[in-house]
Amino acid sequence: MTVLGTGYLGATHAVCMAELGYDVLGLDVDAEKVARLSAGEVPFYEPGLEPLLRKNIESGRLRFTTSYPEVAGFGDVHFLCVGTPQKAGEYAADLRYVHRCIDELLPLLTRPCTLAGKSTVPVGTAERIADRIVNEAPAGNEIELVWNPEFLREGFAVEDTLHPDRLVIGVTSTRGEEIMRAVYAPMLAADTPLVVTDLATAQLVKVAANAFLATKISFINAMAEVCEVTHADVKKLSEALSHDTRIGGRFLHAGLGFGGGCLPKDIRAFMARAGELGVDQALSFLTEVDAINLRRRARMVDLARELLDDSVRHRRVAILGAAFKPDSDDIRDSPALDVASRLQRLGALVTVYDPAAMDNARTMYPHLTYAPSAVAAAGDADLVLHLTEWQEFREMDPAVLNGVVAHRNIVDGRNALDPQRWRDAGWHYRALGRP
Ligand code: UGA
Repeated sequence: MTVLGTGYLGATHAVCMAELGYDVLGLDVDAEKVARLSAGEVPFYEPGLEPLLRKNIESGRLRFTTSYPEVAGFGDVHFLCVGTPQKAGEYAADLRYVHRCIDELLPLLTRPCTLAGKSTVPVGTAERIADRIVNEAPAGNEIELVWNPEFLREGFAVEDTLHPDRLVIGVTSTRGEEIMRAVYAPMLAADTPLVVTDLATAQLVKVAANAFLATKISFINAMAEVCEVTHADVKKLSEALSHDTRIGGRFLHAGLGFGGGCLPKDIRAFMARAGELGVDQALSFLTEVDAINLRRRARMVDLARELLDDSVRHRRVAILGAAFKPDSDDIRDSPALDVASRLQRLGALVTVYDPAAMDNARTMYPHLTYAPSAVAAAGDADLVLHLTEWQEFREMDPAVLNGVVAHRNIVDGRNALDPQRWRDAGWHYRALGRP
């Protein structure tokens, strides 16, 4: 097998396919990334991935390259795992990496093989690739195209890949289905549900899943807005809702809202594609989902201002968390760094600490100040903002900060701290959506 693109999705997929016993060749155009992976080093933070990478490199089953001819010669199944970021200044997905990869690969495909798309793409992309295969690949009709969306979460990538809650495979022939059933035989033997669809449905499943998750988070955050003006408690509200198994408690945690490289850009790309297809009304609710999500960040800044007697200028604010979520060093569309930047623009003296995302944060947000620990970040702080719920922060004893901060003010942006504990330690504790 080959895996084209070794980002979060591709690197994990390559390692996990090797772990299942396949011979795997991963490709990336970034030679430095290929060198690091070949040396057994995962270029991003993902618990549990590095030991498996090393194990499978040592076994000889897993290699990495920058060479398309090598990939074309090696692979019976090629997994397309390149990124599809948001276009600058637009909602639509930027498909340049997908098409560049296809440009390189197709002319080299001279024997029967399968191309399995895993990248998150606007519906219709797979059909375009199918046309291109027939027109541009020497093996043309002997190449199967299947669409096999990926649902892994960062932080749980290995577990989600080896033990997925479902497999979705969009096919155009029974041959394509047979090949993918063989690829995933170990998972199917473990009774993983398999849904076989056409290409369009498989592409849509992925964006529909992320749209639903984003909607669920924004729903509870909309309730948080109502709780704030009625002095109700969104955490209790969410707990009460969660006992209704039709609703369920997962992705119902109110707080600073969603960020990352997937949910925000996927709902926007979905809206853009719906517009092109003339069904924009069907997804107009996602505009509101996005707006609710961004309003949480503005609310956090307002709350900070309120706690600092209406002026954040020259006041010290410690920010706990930079990653878009815990157990990740990914800072793409990070709510925490957005809030940090907004406060800094208002004149606050902001200091950020994160257990894993400091290097990425420093590169992308060089204007912010960083500290090597939570205690260091909190030095002389007038206000502490808890914005990414790392275990380290959830378990922190408030007493360790007592003698460090200038004023004991904390806002729990993730509703993950124990309010009583902080109040007992003499802190003024506030949270989003709670009295
Ligand atoms: C998301 C999906 O959960 C995966 O199923 C999907 O495969 C992936 O996108 C993708 O498209 O590749 P991920 O971006 O890793 O995974 O992150 P999530 O765990 O979904 O969290 C997204 C954001 O929502 C985070 O900022 C998190 O803090 C926030 N969140 C999550 C909440 O604010 N409340 C919740 O209840 C849950």
